[in-house]
Amino acid sequence: MTASRRYHITTFGCQMNKADSERMAGILDSMDFHWVDDPNDADLVLYNTCTIRDNAEQKVYSYLGRQAKRKHEKPDLTLVVAGCVAQQEGEALLRRVPELDLVMGPQHANRLDDLLAQVFAGNQVVATDPIHIIEDITKPRRDSKVSAWVNVIYGCNERCTYCVVPGVRGVEQSRTPEAIRAEMEELARQGYKEVTLLGQNIDAYGRDLPGVTPEGRRENTLTDLLYYVHDIEGIDRIRFATSHPRYFTERLIKACYELPKVCEHFHIPFQSGDNDILKAMSRGYTQEKYRRIIDLVRHYMPDASISADAIVAFPGETEAQFENTMKLVDDIGFDLLNTAAYSPRPGTPAAEWENQLDETTKADRLQRLNHLVSTKAAERSQRYLGRVEEVMVEDVNPRDPSQVMGRTRGNRLTFFEGAIEELKGKTIPVKITTVRAFSLSGEPVYATA
Ligand code: SAH
Ligand code: SF4
Ligand code: F3S
Repeated sequence: MTASRRYHITTFGCQMNKADSERMAGILDSMDFHWVDDPNDADLVLYNTCTIRDNAEQKVYSYLGRQAKRKHEKPDLTLVVAGCVAQQEGEALLRRVPELDLVMGPQHANRLDDLLAQVFAGNQVVATDPIHIIEDITKPRRDSKVSAWVNVIYGCNERCTYCVVPGVRGVEQSRTPEAIRAEMEELARQGYKEVTLLGQNIDAYGRDLPGVTPEGRRENTLTDLLYYVHDIEGIDRIRFATSHPRYFTERLIKACYELPKVCEHFHIPFQSGDNDILKAMSRGYTQEKYRRIIDLVRHYMPDASISADAIVAFPGETEAQFENTMKLVDDIGFDLLNTAAYSPRPGTPAAEWENQLDETTKADRLQRLNHLVSTKAAERSQRYLGRVEEVMVEDVNPRDPSQVMGRTRGNRLTFFEGAIEELKGKTIPVKITTVRAFSLSGEPVYATA
């Protein structure tokens, strides 16, 4: 037997998957596996998968095909598919790729050790039953040493007509404020400086927890959570994502304004700028309401950075309806916008509709929107020129080792000259000298005492 077995994890998809991968890596570390960068050197390969759009799913199959082939030369290779494709396909994945040892849905991430024990006992295992997510007692193997993700709510109870997430991530399950605080305190002890609180619909945090004030207000809201964790010493910055316009409140905006550690950056997807499309998507708000939210955020924090997601060419979207999305983007001026052409997903209502648009229209609208997005982002970047921004240093600039990189409070990637050994985790005032659409460069301003 070789001393210690090697593993590799490739992660697709969103921050939830990244956070799950870090926990699964932590479990493998504790099982006497060690990490390798190249999957072809590994004895255990785990793909943590995403199925949000068809191209995300197809990518998984092509990666998997290569490892399945490798298994024929190396029969002791353990092959694991975790995440959202695993949840969606379940047993069907085993039929498609019989070389697989383990298919496990996202709710089972914290059980990886049990599931592998079954695999090593000679079984082919499928774990996709909905479960009550067990509290995280693992020590995640985190990618960054500065900034960490902390799940606060799993799952999603919304029913957006295009979206697979509720189907694959299950119903909302909030962690208790105490568990979240304990994890953040541990992170602070390990030297982390920034925490991003995560949930697919983070505004739903606490809906499933007990606790109502004498006035009848729920006390376990995201706003309450921010107040509750804000004083943890050592954590300098707090962020959260993703916000839903349907539930975003003024009370939350005020908390972000009042609490100095909470960064002025909001990720609030709008999906479409047209009210009829929003209705067909079952989003539960109008474009007017979305604009009011952004106005309110900017009323309290005029410089707040705003990012969002949008879908073009949703079934039945007319040119005029698409223009309403363009208009919203033009009016609001996002710092960042993730755009995608609508992709029909199995098991979602919109996939069954007959008014699907053709690929040419999808590509054309996506290209037009992307062009507008980069123009607007470049305009938004201009406001940073000549300003001094607080940059929290995370790493070296991979393209220039004489530089370090970090992010502003508004989440803009920023580069400047300096040594990582000295600067990692520190927050440095940087005078911005160059602006690009999605990143900045500058010179550190050290106090001359
Ligand atoms: N919970 C978040 C988003 C989760 S999915 C929210 O409510 O906004 C991330 C993004 O993928 C979505 O915001 C949406 O823009 C995009 N997306 C989801 N399903 C899609 C589909 N079927 N086709 C194209 N894009 C999709
Ligand atoms: Fe999907 Fe809607 Fe839930 Fe976001 S809120 S994860 S888009 S169903
Ligand atoms: Fe993808 Fe699953 Fe996230 S489908 S976007 S990895 S919740």
